[in-house]
Amino acid sequence: MRLSTKHLLGIRELSPQDIQLILDTASQFKEVLQRPIKKVPSLRDVTIVNLFYENSTRTRISFELAEKRLSADTINFSASGSSVSKGETLLDTVNNILSMKVDMVVMRHSATGAPHFLARHIPAAIVNAGDGINEHPTQALLDAFSIRERLGTLEGKKVAIIGDIMHSRVALSNIYLLKKMGAEVTVAGPPTLIPKHMAEAFNVRVEYDLNKALQWCDVANVLRIQLERQNQVLFSSLREYNLAYGVKKSLLDNLDKEILVMHPGPINRGVELDSDVADSKQSIILQQVENGVAVRMAVLYLLAGREG
Ligand code: CP
Repeated sequence: MRLSTKHLLGIRELSPQDIQLILDTASQFKEVLQRPIKKVPSLRDVTIVNLFYENSTRTRISFELAEKRLSADTINFSASGSSVSKGETLLDTVNNILSMKVDMVVMRHSATGAPHFLARHIPAAIVNAGDGINEHPTQALLDAFSIRERLGTLEGKKVAIIGDIMHSRVALSNIYLLKKMGAEVTVAGPPTLIPKHMAEAFNVRVEYDLNKALQWCDVANVLRIQLERQNQVLFSSLREYNLAYGVKKSLLDNLDKEILVMHPGPINRGVELDSDVADSKQSIILQQVENGVAVRMAVLYLLAGREG
């Protein structure tokens, strides 16, 4: 089977069959990653550039590792330290890199739509590694993979996405993916951090009471408060945010079930998530990171035109 798309720009453009194919292919690559020799020759003839115009730890390392595990040739580009500071445009930068015969571009950018712009102008396959407040498709895929690994399926599972929904590309990609795969979604947080008309636009539940959201869900995906994207005061203080919306051990201990706790990272410890929850056995945060490599291997492998 093949993907229905040449690029991975967002989950919005994927079909449920595409998502299933990526997750199933990732399961095979996860098996490869358990072996003593964790490398396969699948993309030996492919050159990939990782183009990061915005900071990243997990996504960047994960893509680079995925590319190396697939035996691709990789080039890493950071906007800082490049000729971007001399005024070179995005398109000029990319065309110069492509003239060196690059097949795929993995791109993170603070501007919404930057990877879509590239996809319209260059022949290489583009993978969106996070664009502004729009989408972060590989994060949603690795989140889904991690839920499926722990709970067996996404169908019918109740996922609460908690926190700064307004500024989160992870939230949007997760909502698209979970709804396409038959999960139920609640977005929870303060009214100032949840866009209006969310329920109608995305067919999700909206909950302003954290405890009720936790009572309802099988999985709590807790999001980072994105202070760098907020240009107005949306809550009184980080301390008060933690009191009202921080996920705490005492809240989880009061539930009549054990839920999974996820977070895409980086965590603001003591703000949206307390350390004793982040480091507890209910937390699968580091498994998410581990699964990210297999998921990104699957995405790159399938976009290179290899059969899943
Ligand atoms: N989850 C995530 O995108 O983390 P980074 O910003 O460190 O890549």
